[in-house]
Amino acid sequence: MFYRGRRLRKNPVIRQLTRETQLSPLDFVYPIFVAEGENLCQPIPSMPGVFRWSVDRLGEVLARMEKAGVKACLLFGIPDHKDEIGSAAWDENGVVQRAMAQIRRLSPEMYIIGDVCMCEYTSHGHCGILDETGYVKNDETLGYLCRIAVSYARAGVDMVAPSDMMDGHIQAIRSALDEAGFVNTAILGYSAKFASGFYGPFRDAADSAPAFGDRKAYQMDPANGREALREIEADIQEGADMVMVKPAMPYLDILKAGSEAYNIPFAAYQVSGEYSMLKKAIEEGLLPPTVVEESLIALKRAGARWLITYFALEVGEALKNR
Ligand code: PBG
Repeated sequence: MFYRGRRLRKNPVIRQLTRETQLSPLDFVYPIFVAEGENLCQPIPSMPGVFRWSVDRLGEVLARMEKAGVKACLLFGIPDHKDEIGSAAWDENGVVQRAMAQIRRLSPEMYIIGDVCMCEYTSHGHCGILDETGYVKNDETLGYLCRIAVSYARAGVDMVAPSDMMDGHIQAIRSALDEAGFVNTAILGYSAKFASGFYGPFRDAADSAPAFGDRKAYQMDPANGREALREIEADIQEGADMVMVKPAMPYLDILKAGSEAYNIPFAAYQVSGEYSMLKKAIEEGLLPPTVVEESLIALKRAGARWLITYFALEVGEALKNR
């Protein structure tokens, strides 16, 4: 006698009945880039199908999300003004704060997450405050991150997601939110965020590439899995409500180990490079379009509860119509 696994693969019905993991539009978080200006729906060359939107046209994005059944978004702001300390980031009238308030008005049920970081706002493109040698100062940066998080909470976000990789940032932001009266604003830790080449297209999209050097003194070394668990543990202890692994597909081992070790929901961020790689390969006919769902279901199988993906709208729509 031998194992006949094919019995349960015989037809689509039994395959569906035995499928261990399902994708749903409710799993998706859609990242949105919001830029200053008016009447803007500007294609991002490095990310085909992704746009920079101005605040006045966000209604169109919300309509597309509604059509796809996607109920959560992650916002990134692209300001006009950059300086050494990224002051546009916590401006109550900043582009991302206005976007948050606008989405809250147009779509009260939308779950709004705000990316808290400084690299889109600093003239040097690093994720914090620099010393004279160009090193990002950890503890000095924390106060700025807190101001950003509180300004997002005032603008109406449900959750803040600090992506700066400063030590102690979750604890600092939790205290700042609580003190300002936002005890119910949740925190998603970008806990295991690796210093990855896969962020390349995003940095074009958000105009956030570092002007010199790299991010290796704050983001993690791709070689380190055990250290990733240490980072996740620290964020949980500091008060994170959810944690993230980023990028996603090259780091499935971290998702798996982390989600088995800790009782907290995990998010996986399928980043810009993963998106553009698949998108381009499909456009060129090198890969079939099915690789998109395959890439997403792999993240869920590995332990991600949430999938942050630029494919959210197209896959959400396909799933809804199936
Ligand atoms: C900001 C930030 C980055 C991404 C999310 N937040 C870029 C970076 O760390 O350089 C990358 C997202 C993507 O590639 O889709 N720190």
